[in-house]
Amino acid sequence: MPFRPNISPRTAGFPAFAAVLLCLGVLVIQGCGGEYPQSALHPGSDSATRLDRLFDQIFWWAVGVFVVVEGILVYTIFRFRERPGGRRPRQVHGHVLLEVGWTLAPALILVAIAIPTMQTIFVIDRATDDPDALVVEVIGRRWWWEFRYPELGIVTANEAHLPVGRTVDLRLRSADVLHSFWVPRLAGKRDLVPGKENQLWFRPDSVGVFPGQCAEFCGTAHALMGMRVIVDEPADFESWAQANAGSSVTPADAEARAGRGVFMANACVSCHSVRGTPAEGRFGPDLTNFGSRLTIASGVLENTPANLTRWLDSTQHVKPGNLMPEVQLSATQIRQLVAYLGSLR
Ligand code: CUA
Repeated sequence: MPFRPNISPRTAGFPAFAAVLLCLGVLVIQGCGGEYPQSALHPGSDSATRLDRLFDQIFWWAVGVFVVVEGILVYTIFRFRERPGGRRPRQVHGHVLLEVGWTLAPALILVAIAIPTMQTIFVIDRATDDPDALVVEVIGRRWWWEFRYPELGIVTANEAHLPVGRTVDLRLRSADVLHSFWVPRLAGKRDLVPGKENQLWFRPDSVGVFPGQCAEFCGTAHALMGMRVIVDEPADFESWAQANAGSSVTPADAEARAGRGVFMANACVSCHSVRGTPAEGRFGPDLTNFGSRLTIASGVLENTPANLTRWLDSTQHVKPGNLMPEVQLSATQIRQLVAYLGSLR
């Protein structure tokens, strides 16, 4: 029997409904455009590229399933709808071929998805066998990140620099509670578990700044536990490493020197380290290269003198719940501290 859609006056509102649906669809798809620095769909490493390819495969299987299932559904709705004066349809019970078909087809599709999924898991989950891998220790703390480079003698916070094209072997630990390391454009998530060391490796293949964040609820400031991974050209990485491996230099500028005095005379030193000075606190971020960082308070604010002033004036307003005590400082002392911290490069 030929296909004869039977549209009654009762369905006249359908075109308007379809138009509204189409407009909404266009708006939703519009939302997918633009810059998304934390999108796993724009991979910047070999590991993230594997995950992205796997996603693409599964996505196209899903599109195929959707088109076939919805196609048959829509066809059936129109083809077998009730018509005025129509006969009672033939009553059937079961259809062996259909039953076998719709059991077998999904099973085969699941096998086709499972094979590349398991292959990918085996590759990205094992420890790296690259003997030239750069080891970086990542320590999750409430609510910031510590990065240590044992072979380079560098300790830094919230911003890790990596050379492009070299495998990085991350060793992840927690100093307190569960955290999760997630830089979507570079790799999948990996938990930081107290009392256990986890590993994660990837090889960055493009230069740039890759934002990430803690992906495991870890308390008050969890949502403000961001980080940056900065992938440099090898030469830029070398100069960053050289600048950061040494001790800080006593600033020449008078205001910054006064700030150094304020820093050393206050509670700052009991929590923060500045290499080459009496400040050897371990509880808060190492500030040796603070002036060269892009952000402060683990990615909450851009690292500018105005923002640093805000932070020193009232840390709890900038990042509620953070564990840095509000040290009582005069406006002059804050100005001097801002000058000193900015000079630490
Ligand atoms: Cu650390 Cu959430």
